[in-house]
Amino acid sequence: MDVLSAIRERRSIRNYADRPVESEKLEKVLEAARLAPSASNRQNWKFVVVQDRETIARLGDACNGQAFVGQAPVFIAACSTAPGSVMSCGQPRDTVDLSIATAYLILEAYEQGLGTCWLGSFNEGKVKRLLGIPDPVRVVAVTPLGYADIRPKPTPRKTREQIISFETYRDD
Ligand SMILES: Cc1cc2nc3c(=O)[nH]c(=O)nc-3n(C[C@H](O)[C@H](O)[C@H](O)COP(=O)(O)O)c2cc1C
Repeated sequence: MDVLSAIRERRSIRNYADRPVESEKLEKVLEAARLAPSASNRQNWKFVVVQDRETIARLGDACNGQAFVGQAPVFIAACSTAPGSVMSCGQPRDTVDLSIATAYLILEAYEQGLGTCWLGSFNEGKVKRLLGIPDPVRVVAVTPLGYADIRPKPTPRKTREQIISFETYRDD
């Protein structure tokens, strides 16, 4: 599958089949995150992979009761090990770096036939306590991982005209 096809076809999955994820597939998904670029190549990240069913059920509660999280066979927390650093452009390194790595991870998951759902709605304190994540490490993104039970319809996107301008910024 080419990259653009994966980008086009990927969906956020909120229904997971009761089917385990093969370890070879999980390895590929994690490899995509490992190989992601980061500012100054610092790679200040850790990915916590959870497969214990009881912990995953509790993580569903930590994700503000999003019940589908508890259905998935795998849960991944993308963590920044060096939060607080700001690039000269004014943007935080850790959220940018972890977002790139998580995007790579979810695309490789799609390539492997697996579903994910990037979650920003979670209680960081609860996730950290459940997974033994120490301070000052921050949880930037989390996702369930597993086989989709239902393939959702595509969600709309703005048109090119709405979001792209050439040479100078234009708001029209
Ligand atoms: C930063 C971020 C946070 C998100 N948080 C949640 C969430 O907490 N719960 C959820 O169900 N979906 C969440 N989503 C998924 C978006 O709703 C979804 O990506 C968007 O509606 C587009 O749909 P698609 O992913 O199927 O293309 C999040 C996505 C991103 C990128």
